[in-house]
Amino acid sequence: MDSIIVTGGGPLSGTIPIAGAKNACLTLMPATLLSDEPLTLTNAPRLSDIRTMSQLLGSLGAEVSSLSDGLVLAMSSHDLNGERADYDIVRKMRASILVLGPLLARQGRAVVSLPGGCAIGARPVDLHLKALEAMGAELELRDGYVHAKAPSGGLHGGIVDFPFVSVGATENALMAATLARGTTVLKNAAQEPEIVDLVHCLQAMGAQISGEGTDTIEIQGVDRLHGATHRVVTDRIELGTYMLAPLVAGGEVTLGGGRRNLLDAFCTKIEEAGAEVTESDAGLTVKRANGPMQAVDVETQPFPGFPTDLQAQMMALLCTAQGTSVLEEKIFENRFMHAPELIRMGAEIDVHGGHATVTGVDKLKGAPVMATDLRASVSLILAGLAAQGETRVGRVYHLDRGYEHVVAKLRGVGANIERVKEDG
Ligand code: EPU
Repeated sequence: MDSIIVTGGGPLSGTIPIAGAKNACLTLMPATLLSDEPLTLTNAPRLSDIRTMSQLLGSLGAEVSSLSDGLVLAMSSHDLNGERADYDIVRKMRASILVLGPLLARQGRAVVSLPGGCAIGARPVDLHLKALEAMGAELELRDGYVHAKAPSGGLHGGIVDFPFVSVGATENALMAATLARGTTVLKNAAQEPEIVDLVHCLQAMGAQISGEGTDTIEIQGVDRLHGATHRVVTDRIELGTYMLAPLVAGGEVTLGGGRRNLLDAFCTKIEEAGAEVTESDAGLTVKRANGPMQAVDVETQPFPGFPTDLQAQMMALLCTAQGTSVLEEKIFENRFMHAPELIRMGAEIDVHGGHATVTGVDKLKGAPVMATDLRASVSLILAGLAAQGETRVGRVYHLDRGYEHVVAKLRGVGANIERVKEDG
């Protein structure tokens, strides 16, 4: 198992290229199951979660080839021969549940392991199941698996009114509805850029969808979908993560390919804290406007609000901002595991329920740390960039799930960071 060692140092400068979005790619890949013609994705991120999804699709009979050093995923579901997503794969990655809707729509049957809880919360899938039921699916929960069956004439259109916003449930329902008979309306649908990207891909495959990017999406089912080539949208969470680097460590960094409309609420919040963000053809350029960063209050919300996937990284910034900030986590009940690790680095944080109060200190101090999820891990790297001395971040496999070439990207802008084999 590897560790990453970061030594806090001087200001950063240069450009970091931003990859295609993990969370878009993880829903675009199962869309291949909807068609017997090839689906090709370009600008794919090179991540272990993408390899896990490839493995899952392969177990269902899809062919997935990784080309151009992993940037292109060529997929074909011409000969599907499976309908079972096994616990062994699903337990590694919750996004595996996204094969349920497509399998059910195309094959009329699916057996998918229930993902179970994870470090950031219980994360049930009841909304995914209710949406599919509204399209006529018969579902049975048995032996830890969802056994799903479409009615004899296939899924039909339905009205799905989500009680609260769920990205994954919106994606599963969207994909299933493309091949259902009649019209499906998704109310209180997620509006994330990854949903819009999925809709654009499905439209390129021949799906009839309108309203993407709003809270009401309407899908007119079609008999079949055809092949397509689609470019994966920029990863707004990787973008936001690296936007914080020059604010934590000083300097000025351009995030290649970044666009403000992917992260408007986040940009506004860091500007309030003292950042200057400039948009150009090259991407977004970020630096401190003048002087030290200031405390701000943050509340996570579904898009277009401040993303929960940037809360941990924002906390790393606020640990050394002037004043006291309150972060409120509204999406996942247990997403403050980075707080105890940041405290080990000298941060002043008090977690109480869904809130964390952070009082800025002058300097963090390097320490051995580890975290139990992806975004928490990268927040520790950010904190390490400005800490005095050496920070050793363990359990690097969490980072490999969501950040490609993290060491090379940060070294490219002058950070002192390396990946080493852990002792023992
Ligand atoms: N929820 C339910 N029932 C459901 C579905 C969700 O209660 O059937 C709850 C969840 O437990 C959570 C809230 O609803 O409290 C929102 O969850 P959502 O379904 O929106 O999340 P998700 O689809 O499981 C995706 C991303 C997450 C990201 C969230 C929120 C992927 C593969 N994952 O998860 O990304 O945090 O949306 O934006 O797209 C990450 O990349 O680090 C990550 C965790």
